Amino acid sequence: MDGNGRWAEQRGLSRLHGHRVGKDSVRAVVESARRLGIEYLSLFAFSTENWNRPPKEVDGLMLLLRRYLASELDKMMRHGIRLVAVGTLRRLPPAVREALQAAVAATRKNTGMTVILAVSYGGREDITRAMRAIARKVEKGELSAAAITQDVVARHMATKGIPDPDLLIRTSGEMRVSNFYLWQLAYTEIYVTETLWPDFREREFAQALGFFEQRQRRFGKTPEQIERDPSLRAAIS
Ligand code: FPP
Repeated sequence: MDGNGRWAEQRGLSRLHGHRVGKDSVRAVVESARRLGIEYLSLFAFSTENWNRPPKEVDGLMLLLRRYLASELDKMMRHGIRLVAVGTLRRLPPAVREALQAAVAATRKNTGMTVILAVSYGGREDITRAMRAIARKVEKGELSAAAITQDVVARHMATKGIPDPDLLIRTSGEMRVSNFYLWQLAYTEIYVTETLWPDFREREFAQALGFFEQRQRRFGKTPEQIERDPSLRAAIS
């Protein structure tokens, strides 16, 4: 959700003001995704690298997160939204961590859309932790090296049980993945828009989905293979 800072600077406002308006875009996109029947929506709210920002900005973002959870929990329950948090949550200030864990617990049994909040998240950290957990099992003799398949790795990532994303939306024209879902993005379609996150609302989201609909997903196969084989066509459509 990039571009909050630039959006604010362009208007002579504080960066935090940009994040505040960005929070409204979060609301709009979650609502829009829910109405469209999207099953999983990940929001990269705060990266492991974001801890290096000025303390005032970090504190402001933490407060925004807490406020968001407080103001949205009712709606999540009403709409059956399940909240999942991925990232190094122990680094969060206790009040934010507790609010997040409470919202995750409260929505655990909801069966509507799943919203995955990536906070204090880093793709490399996610992979490293998975490797560590797998190594521990190997050390204990619970797993052999030969049994480490892609499936096993995926089950040790923070996103276990959550399908890999179909579409990555990158706002503010940034052409990089910024240490987001490094493992999970292997076959994800990437949509980059110049729109800054605070301006990214329902209409921009619909445009991104329109782009996705035009893509032919091949998963390494040739277009001819896909055209020829109806089961492949069905599986990837
Ligand atoms: C990156 O833009 C954005 C962030 C580090 C924070 C994103 C947070 C929100 C959208 C609001 C709170 C989130 C939730 C889930 C309620 P940037 O600051 O790097 O922008 P810039 O590249 O223009 O400086």
